[in-house]
Amino acid sequence: MTAMQNVSIGSHYAVHLPAPDDFAVWRERARGLVQCDVPPDRVSWIEPGGTGDLFASEGPARGEKRLPVPPVDAPPVRASKRFLELARHAALHSDPARFGLLYRVLWRLQRHPRLMEDKADPEVRRIEELAKAVRRDAHKMHAFVRFREVEEEGGTPHFVAWFEPDHHVVRSEAGFFMRRFANMRWSILTPRGSIHWDGEVMREGPPARRSDAPGGDPVEDLWRSYYAAIFNPARLKVGAMLSEMPKKYWKNLPEAELIPQLIAGAQAREARMVSSGSLERGEKPETLKGVGKAIHACRMCPIGELDNHAVMGEGPRDAPLMIVGEQPGDQEDQAGRPFVGPAGQLLGEYLTRAGIDRDAAYVTNAVKHFKFVWKGKRRLHQSPGAKEIDTCRWWLEAERDLVRPRIVLALGASAARGLLGKTVSISKVRGEPMMLEDGTELWVTAHPSYLLRLDGAARETQAALFAADLAAVRERLEDLAG
Ligand code: URA
Repeated sequence: MTAMQNVSIGSHYAVHLPAPDDFAVWRERARGLVQCDVPPDRVSWIEPGGTGDLFASEGPARGEKRLPVPPVDAPPVRASKRFLELARHAALHSDPARFGLLYRVLWRLQRHPRLMEDKADPEVRRIEELAKAVRRDAHKMHAFVRFREVEEEGGTPHFVAWFEPDHHVVRSEAGFFMRRFANMRWSILTPRGSIHWDGEVMREGPPARRSDAPGGDPVEDLWRSYYAAIFNPARLKVGAMLSEMPKKYWKNLPEAELIPQLIAGAQAREARMVSSGSLERGEKPETLKGVGKAIHACRMCPIGELDNHAVMGEGPRDAPLMIVGEQPGDQEDQAGRPFVGPAGQLLGEYLTRAGIDRDAAYVTNAVKHFKFVWKGKRRLHQSPGAKEIDTCRWWLEAERDLVRPRIVLALGASAARGLLGKTVSISKVRGEPMMLEDGTELWVTAHPSYLLRLDGAARETQAALFAADLAAVRERLEDLAG
């Protein structure tokens, strides 16, 4: 890595970063500059090899000053949690202007602490875009890295993969591969640098070329049949598929050979699904009314086949808060509205006590149909399975895309899974916001029906926790409303 030289030319400071993905150094330098009151137009951020990397191999020239040192009594630098979360990702983008942008926003945050909540601010939006692109790149790396086996001297297998990231995600994603392939010796080679794991130690290496990586069949031969089996013609949109799996990755993936064949066969399979009545979703509807109509026809999981009705979410189209439950119960199924039964009554009481207006929130469920078993003449609630929740995410996402709430509140583990796509423990995640993929804040708490099943001291304890969670959400909503 290049040694860092931070210099000022006249009144202009040039900050050299040791690596293009070094957020920690950017943060430390940026903090010092803010504390010394150096405005953004007097700072250039220079990454190694970038244009303007004029000082990479030279010391400070005569007349240049080092970075100013903040006074000991300098006030602390304000940076909201949201800024830091987004900045950490945005700093890994390949846009050469990113560090300057981050510094400008950090500078503005000192005067406008709520700046990050201004969704219309072009600089805030740009940071969000950068962070999103980086998360997407990291996701692609997780999904599309394919190892080939190379036999080393002594017969030890070494797995080598080639990948072409758009952004500087290689080092930041090393931990993912280390955890996943902890017992293998592997290398991931990319044009932005390489990482090597020998089962104990991670090493970094220089950028590589495609020809440095072995060709031949990836180790995961089974992947081909897996991919063909999960391929869903109802969701075939070549444009979307290309954006999920851009062509540049195809050459690297065994299943890519199947794509033309799958696309060709898709029309026929889709026609068969339509005629058998099992095709219920393709494009996401563009209005909530459209979603409401579409969910009635949904048979993508077995719950829709039961004797029930789909229950759509309800509430203002621009609600700042979206409340997500598990699934409609018996009464909701009959009324066609969410949370009208006993759990809904209790929820209403606690929302009122917390100062949250239920009517101003958009209330919905992770699963749109009531899952039950008959017991005599009664329909007994059954919890939806992970697969059913995951299948129904399609509709929950459609609602989220349209309402775009500032905060989503998940009630219980099924709702949390519907939003996160993975199971979390309520006791571990409650009380602190998380961030969904699109940057929306997610708060998780217990489901009110859990309280209904408790009594005595246990109920009191849980009720207090539930009330505290709702109060925290109300406070946060007030903060965001400014
Ligand atoms: N429980 C839920 O999770 N949702 C409802 O709509 C009703 C009860």
